[in-house]
Amino acid sequence: MRVAVLAGGRSSEHEVSLASAASVREGLRAAGHEVVAVELARDGTWSSGGAELALRAGRGLLGCDVVFPVLHGPFGEDGTVQGLLELLDVAYVGSGVMASAVCMDKVVFKELMARAGLPQVGYALAEAGRPCPDVGALGLPVWVKPARLGSSVGIVRVQRHEDLDAALQSAFAHDDRVIIEAAATGIEVECSVLGDTHDARVSVPGEIVVLTGGWYDYEAKYTDGGMRLEVPARISETATATLGELARRAFATAGCSGLARADFFVDGETVLLNELNTMPGQTTTSVYGVLWERSGLAYPALMDELCRIALA
Ligand code: DAL
Ligand code: MG
Repeated sequence: MRVAVLAGGRSSEHEVSLASAASVREGLRAAGHEVVAVELARDGTWSSGGAELALRAGRGLLGCDVVFPVLHGPFGEDGTVQGLLELLDVAYVGSGVMASAVCMDKVVFKELMARAGLPQVGYALAEAGRPCPDVGALGLPVWVKPARLGSSVGIVRVQRHEDLDAALQSAFAHDDRVIIEAAATGIEVECSVLGDTHDARVSVPGEIVVLTGGWYDYEAKYTDGGMRLEVPARISETATATLGELARRAFATAGCSGLARADFFVDGETVLLNELNTMPGQTTTSVYGVLWERSGLAYPALMDELCRIALA
């Protein structure tokens, strides 16, 4: 089929998206698909083959059967581009408007998961221009994160209460909604989810081993040698089963479709859901495809399946 791959976008994860999209294009070509590269500049313009595109409702995109929006963060992974693709009336890979928006906002996501009874760390919402909530019950350290961003951009680990205000100000530079999260004990484990909302399967879990000497920040994520993925994660069979079940339930509860990477904290038999990423990184160091490969699904076959789900 003919697949338009969207790359770039307006968020601070623009560069990550360019790298992700290069992998996706290669995977699609290896699967025998015709690829049309579309670049979304930081100023919001769309172009393909050097020519700026005019988008018109109901007219599809460049005669493609499917669009693969390989975009991370705001204006790409948050339902906005998905809404535009709905208006163009073209099939696209991944979650729709609602699930994309829900998973992009870490607070809205956690509220929804809490209602479904899924275990998570404690958290609070801080809003720019409003008094900071009392977060004493979260203990220390806490993590201060822009509510709607990815790749660890703008995240600060706070060890002392007197440093909270500075951390909030730095997160507010990225988003006027900020989440303050309790620190979890144990290790970070992720799994890849693939399929329809209520009928998804999960990959073998992978354990994040950070090699930079710090936490799993932007540098650890995207520098060669910054992290190592231990597959399968060194967790018990019970914890593995719990994690897979939680990933499927979270995916269904948020109304996701196609793909997501589910991130967890695991300490012994305790498994806490951290988040779902509806357009997880696809760079050469990214977890999503590696976990499927280690589960027996090669990258080109994975790309092919994602397009077929989009058209179903
Ligand atoms: N936000 C990055 C791309 C990820 O979740 O992999
Ligand atoms: Mg993320």
